[in-house]
Amino acid sequence: MAQNARLQGLGILVLCSLLHPAMTTAQQPALNLMPLPANVQSGAGSLRVDSTFSVAFTGYAEPRLERAGERFLRQLARQTGLPLALKPSKTAKATLVIQTDHASKEIQEVGEDESYILDVSTASGRLRATTPLGTMHGLQAFLQLVDVSPDGFAAPVVTIQDKPRFPWRGLMIDSARHFIPLDVIRRNLDGMEAVKMNVFHWHLSENQGFRVESRKFPKLQELGSDALYYTQEEIRDLIAYARDRGIRVVPEFDMPGHSTAWFVGHPELASGKGPYEIERRWGVFDPAMDPTSERVYKFLDEFIGEMGKIFPDHYFHIGGDEVNGKEWDANPKIQAFMKSQGIKNNQELQAYFSGRVQKLVVKHGKVVIGWDEVLVPGVPKDIVIQSWRGQASLAQAAKQGYRGILSNGYYLDLGWSAARHYAVDPMSGDAANLSAEEQQRILGGESCMWAEYVNPENVDSRIWPRNAAIAERLWSPQEVRDPASMYARLDFVSTRLEWLGLTHRTVSRHMLQRLAGSASSAEFAALRTLTDVVEPVKDYTRERTAPAEPTSATPMNRVVDAVPLESDAGRRFGELVDQFVASSCHDAAAEARLRAQLTVWRDNGAILQPLAQRSFLVKEVAANSQDLSALGAAGLAALDAIAKGQPAPEAWKAQQLALLEQVKKPKAQLLMIPAPAVQKLIEAASAGGACSSPKS
Ligand code: ACM
Repeated sequence: MAQNARLQGLGILVLCSLLHPAMTTAQQPALNLMPLPANVQSGAGSLRVDSTFSVAFTGYAEPRLERAGERFLRQLARQTGLPLALKPSKTAKATLVIQTDHASKEIQEVGEDESYILDVSTASGRLRATTPLGTMHGLQAFLQLVDVSPDGFAAPVVTIQDKPRFPWRGLMIDSARHFIPLDVIRRNLDGMEAVKMNVFHWHLSENQGFRVESRKFPKLQELGSDALYYTQEEIRDLIAYARDRGIRVVPEFDMPGHSTAWFVGHPELASGKGPYEIERRWGVFDPAMDPTSERVYKFLDEFIGEMGKIFPDHYFHIGGDEVNGKEWDANPKIQAFMKSQGIKNNQELQAYFSGRVQKLVVKHGKVVIGWDEVLVPGVPKDIVIQSWRGQASLAQAAKQGYRGILSNGYYLDLGWSAARHYAVDPMSGDAANLSAEEQQRILGGESCMWAEYVNPENVDSRIWPRNAAIAERLWSPQEVRDPASMYARLDFVSTRLEWLGLTHRTVSRHMLQRLAGSASSAEFAALRTLTDVVEPVKDYTRERTAPAEPTSATPMNRVVDAVPLESDAGRRFGELVDQFVASSCHDAAAEARLRAQLTVWRDNGAILQPLAQRSFLVKEVAANSQDLSALGAAGLAALDAIAKGQPAPEAWKAQQLALLEQVKKPKAQLLMIPAPAVQKLIEAASAGGACSSPKS
């Protein structure tokens, strides 16, 4: 409760100054901060950022801060094109003076002080933080403040007092279903730093691959990875890279299910007879570790000991999700064990397994984190629950004394809009009714990038920019939740993220160029017009609607793999229609823009058609292209009817709505995003609609 009251106080300040950043006046330039700080007070004027810009550290010093300063200067040089000196200055007379009070923990802990205060005046900047973690967050905030102005680059005068709402703000990447190389992981860590996320959860083993070098059990990677795994040296480097950015690395070794790849080299761990092969398909499979075998626990003891030394974080993720129990049911030895121990069902058997593994993890000095299946009666209290099946389990866990993090609602692979993820709050739903003490147990959340339909080429575009909206949800006060403000800032931040080396925007163009081959520029523009307004099907529909069973060998070179998961053009068109209809269709400027857009769509199919003859990958979206042309024509007809000032005939409306039903059906696993907005125009034009009466 106390916490809520405090946050409310902070929230009011934020809401006053930043609720509508796109609408602030010239004296109050829009602040493109993401995540929004807890407290921002804008002043008048700005600090010039020119080629004399320098930073200096005072107070506590360490090499990591020096590197953070260099990284900051490199990034500022990239943002501005200014030839900056790329080393922090030794004098205290720098443009930006940074004071850090003391060290953070050698092994980063949950709940360390990450706060910072950033003061920008017309003469200089001053950044103060208790620990290097806060310093690094403050440097990112400063980078976001710098923008082009009429007389050079500048940062606005501002005072920011900031600290995170939740101590655990993570991104999970599944490197097991599709291997993700280290350079791709590193640039995603750069992106996480930019939006103040502090946990990289690395999903490292699966049915489809075992991705870490074990020296104790080398058959794990030798037989379980198709030679796609990280060496111990590479992992140590990556962890150092993450620590440099204030990010913890939590490894996940999923067990007892999702573990076929372990059994290729070590069939003795499994509950079935084998032999086992690396799984190529997606889904939940039968193989599971044998919870009744002492050999399994001896193996896991040594394995966790080995991995615990490579991954210094205090937390160790043991997975625990989606065990179907079929191998257990079919094994007489396991059935006899259950009978003799009074274990009544597979859930209890898994609880027995989790309990044994938890003791091993604790023995090696770590705390267990697991998916919410591990939350069953009797599980030790010192584990952290990662809730993926629903928010209720998070609240239940907190009530029972367990700590937890939320991932339900933050699954990036489901293709939701940034706004939909943004609306999910770890403290909403059942969690809203928890006591203050229980709420303290909710540590934050993690977005999850599961990799069935993700490879090194397109993974950035499946994480970003939407992940930045989730990062804001986990950092900023709960009251910060206006999607219009979020989208205005997300657009800006998305561009900045590409300057860090992320490829979420450019990759889409490259992939479309591949499938367009030698298209003329007009044809390629038409392909872009179409692909700008479609999105991949949502949730788990992709699997169900696949033309052939997808596997890890399926190429990802189709339009559905190339287009962003959220269509900006589709969203903007929807907003424009809403604005037009809200004006009772009197807004002439909006009407003109709608007409221009709908005309382009109507005429697009004819331009794209020859390319569909020449490229099998473009041909796949020929029906989508026809739909877009039909949508353009229907929207124009609605605008014509509105202009006439007479309700459109019922028969016409019925015909158009029937057409829209066809357009809304996914084709080539793609959704036509502007369809509902065009439907609004048709309804507005019809009898009883918002715009069916004569214009005055
Ligand atoms: C999960 O999505 N099976 C954790």
